[in-house]
Amino acid sequence: MKAVVAIGTQWGDEGKAKIIDFLTKESDIVVRYQGGANAGHTVVVGDQKYIFHLIPSGILHKDKICVIGNGLVLDPIQLIKEINDLEEKGIEVRNRLIISDSLHLILPYHKALDSAMEELRDNKIGTTNRGIGPCYADKCLRIGIRAGDILDQNLLAEKISLVLKFKNLQLKKVYQKSVFTEKEIFDLLDKFRVELGDLIQNSSYFLSQSIQAEKRVLLEGAQGFALDIDHGTYPYVTSSNPTIGGALLGSGLNASDISEVIGITKAYVTRVGEGPFPTYEDGPSGQLLQQKGGEFGATTGRPRRCGWFDLQLLKQAKRINGLTRLALTKIDVLSGLDKIKVAIGYEINGKKVEAPSNHNFYQVKPVYEELPGWSEDLTLCKSYQDLPSQAKDYIKFIQEQAEVKISIVSVGPGREQTFLLE
Ligand code: GDP
Ligand code: IMO
Ligand code: MG
Repeated sequence: MKAVVAIGTQWGDEGKAKIIDFLTKESDIVVRYQGGANAGHTVVVGDQKYIFHLIPSGILHKDKICVIGNGLVLDPIQLIKEINDLEEKGIEVRNRLIISDSLHLILPYHKALDSAMEELRDNKIGTTNRGIGPCYADKCLRIGIRAGDILDQNLLAEKISLVLKFKNLQLKKVYQKSVFTEKEIFDLLDKFRVELGDLIQNSSYFLSQSIQAEKRVLLEGAQGFALDIDHGTYPYVTSSNPTIGGALLGSGLNASDISEVIGITKAYVTRVGEGPFPTYEDGPSGQLLQQKGGEFGATTGRPRRCGWFDLQLLKQAKRINGLTRLALTKIDVLSGLDKIKVAIGYEINGKKVEAPSNHNFYQVKPVYEELPGWSEDLTLCKSYQDLPSQAKDYIKFIQEQAEVKISIVSVGPGREQTFLLE
């Protein structure tokens, strides 16, 4: 058995959690490999809506093991809250959740610095203020506190003392913000140890052993290809690698462990936070997508900008990630549009550009092809055959142009509103 990776192909919120929930049926273990509580992953089961920020979206399936991998930055308070909320709803979590000993912990000074840096910037990133960037920065600076550190209290006290030297100086002298005491950070982490310390282990070893034991592993990406710190629209990106390289680094699996890379792609594009967005649609069609698609951030509640499907972006996502197939979500939201635009390429000053560089991404103009729309409601469709011919043509057009097969289609937020394409 090998591992399957599922990655968003746009700027996040492609409906990844819904597809992960669907794929979990055929998996034994679901793993988050990067990001943190900046993610908002929604799964709808009947009239219950669950939004996961740190816990893998496969948790609703009984008996499946969920792993928070070494590539994440984890906010302990948020995780305790998320577990308690689920357990209140009768979903047992603690007996099947593994927390990597090597992941880095997000502490209150990371969140304070995230906001303080945004305040000072002229060109704001529009971060989720969850402390993501500052925590990954500490990882690279080699002053971060990792989950395993909390198990040795003497070592932890030393690490807190070191990191607070830097953080308090920065908060006080640079940003004129309040500082943190060693005791408050220690107490917070000690609460985490008491509550969840037993779940901390070497998750990469666990995953390699699981693959050897023929377990089916599903890797859940957060954010999306175009928010990748290396391959996305820098600096308007997140601070991790949602792309395939991040899946390996953030889980500890190796390239030969991976059998499939599924790209999760929404039938139109959205973006929350700042940054370039070539197919952004300012007019009534964009508003229709936002309202019908319920396009508000699952973490921050901010409205998401909406625009047309971007094949150029999908082609780049395919190239970087080696996508083997696609899951197409939210095609139901397009019902009621007379014409549907799809960007088939980009131009700068009238010249075709295959792969724009980061520095000229803002100048890119999409080249559109218009496809006929449909008026039928797709939310009750149970198979490809049930779709109106224009929706079938839309699917065919995307897969032919992108040269990658669409094998899963989603026509609504509900679990049952998903079907396979042969
Ligand atoms: P993620 O971050 O990629 O997991 O996506 P989010 O949960 O942030 O946003 C996706 C939103 O669309 C959620 O509210 C989902 O319930 C909803 N959703 C997912 N798939 C579909 C679909 O096929 N159709 C419709 N109408 N909504 C969907
Ligand atoms: P999921 O997993 C959409 C965006 C933020 C901001 C930028 C940097 O739900 O798809 P950060 O807090 O990470 O430093 O913010 O990245 N962003 C997301 N946008 N979906 C997400 O996650 C996102 N996570 C971060 O809005 O523009
Ligand atoms: Mg989301």
